[in-house]
Amino acid sequence: MSIEIPPGLTELLQGYTVEVLRQRPHDLVDFAVHYFTRLQEKRLQDGAGAAAAQRPHCRGVNFDGEPMQTESNGDDEEEDDEDDDDSDFEPPVINRYSRRVSVCAEAFNPDEDEEDTEPRVVHPKTDEQRCRLQEACKDILLFKNLDQEQLSQVLDAMFERKVEPQEHVIDQGDDGDNFYVIERGLYDIFVARDGQSRCVGRYDNHGSFGELALMYNTPRAATIVATTEGALWGLDRVTFRRIILKNNAKKRKMYEIFIESVPILKSLEPSERMKIVDVIGEKNYKDGDRIIAQGDKADCFYIVESGEVKIMMKSKTKTSQESNQEVEITRCKRGQYFGELALVTNKPRAASAYAVDSVKCLVMDVQAFERLLGPCMDIMKRNITHYEEQLVALFGSSMDLRDPGK
Ligand code: CMP
Ligand code: CMP
Repeated sequence: MSIEIPPGLTELLQGYTVEVLRQRPHDLVDFAVHYFTRLQEKRLQDGAGAAAAQRPHCRGVNFDGEPMQTESNGDDEEEDDEDDDDSDFEPPVINRYSRRVSVCAEAFNPDEDEEDTEPRVVHPKTDEQRCRLQEACKDILLFKNLDQEQLSQVLDAMFERKVEPQEHVIDQGDDGDNFYVIERGLYDIFVARDGQSRCVGRYDNHGSFGELALMYNTPRAATIVATTEGALWGLDRVTFRRIILKNNAKKRKMYEIFIESVPILKSLEPSERMKIVDVIGEKNYKDGDRIIAQGDKADCFYIVESGEVKIMMKSKTKTSQESNQEVEITRCKRGQYFGELALVTNKPRAASAYAVDSVKCLVMDVQAFERLLGPCMDIMKRNITHYEEQLVALFGSSMDLRDPGK
């Protein structure tokens, strides 16, 4: 017996699911009642009547009172303008961070401006400290989309923490207090599962950690142990949530539709794609900028948001004179990715990448890549064979990218 799915049902449920993922309500049924009541009210307001429910592209609302684009087409543009004016919506009182209360029982709504109600945290710094802090923070992806004012509030609130070898900066299972940016030092990452603790990676003198417990109000997901003497900059959870979470809500709106269209991310669940948006940072390049240098150690993965990226390689199979010449292998356009190979194979960068005109990329660090892109790994690994074939066609001899040392 075949069961016909009523038109609009998928989009309706998708809208609800997306909103659940954004809001993380305590009670799903309660939330559903509010959500669908709100949807009905909105339909009546719009005068669309019962017919709207039959539309295949029927959209939900989010709790910012804005329509949610579960699927877009050009016909919807006019409606968007009308819907954007709907600012009188009172969200249901749901404390999205009420699950863990021992550290933080405060409610947080990223769309509410808490700036005037919360006293700002400021840790005074010397000029020398501020210079070191700015240097440590310049490549932190979570700070990339902040405006000047937000960034300076973050920097003001950060405080210095020195660590000793073997010191546990974070213990898995604890409540989250601070987010940390690394100034220097090596830090091992341990994840315990089924009673077994395993080292899953290492921070080497740069990067950041401790964002997950603060973003999702969950226990610490890993243990971070300093293996050398080191220096960190901490950011308290209240400031982190006030600024970074607010900014993440903006990022979700900005990138949601683009991220859904990225082919390599298609196999992920919507909630997994959202988590990617939460940790990515946007980087801009101008014509000719080198984004990746062949032979470098790898720490990031890139998705082209706009513009074109040229992949160039110096061949190892040619004579030493010819091998200094870079040859163009391919170009990556909007929605395509690069920089995954070295992360998958744990080898230096196999090629260089250059911006052609202005380029915008979404960038993810290696830890997030490993944590979030597991489901895409098979496709990426299969693609290595395609790269090798490309190189045979270009250079005339085979190259084993899985072991570039050969
Ligand atoms: P948080 O859960 O707040 O505290 C531990 C941190 O370790 C976590 O945030 C991440 O920033 C970082 N981390 C790095 N790799 C992993 C991983 N594989 N799983 C979980 N957390 C990780
Ligand atoms: P990575 O080695 O990390 O950095 C250079 C990137 O170029 C590489 O990852 C791939 O994403 C990309 N690339 C595209 N085509 C090829 C190819 N034929 N061989 C190697 N890398 C390629």
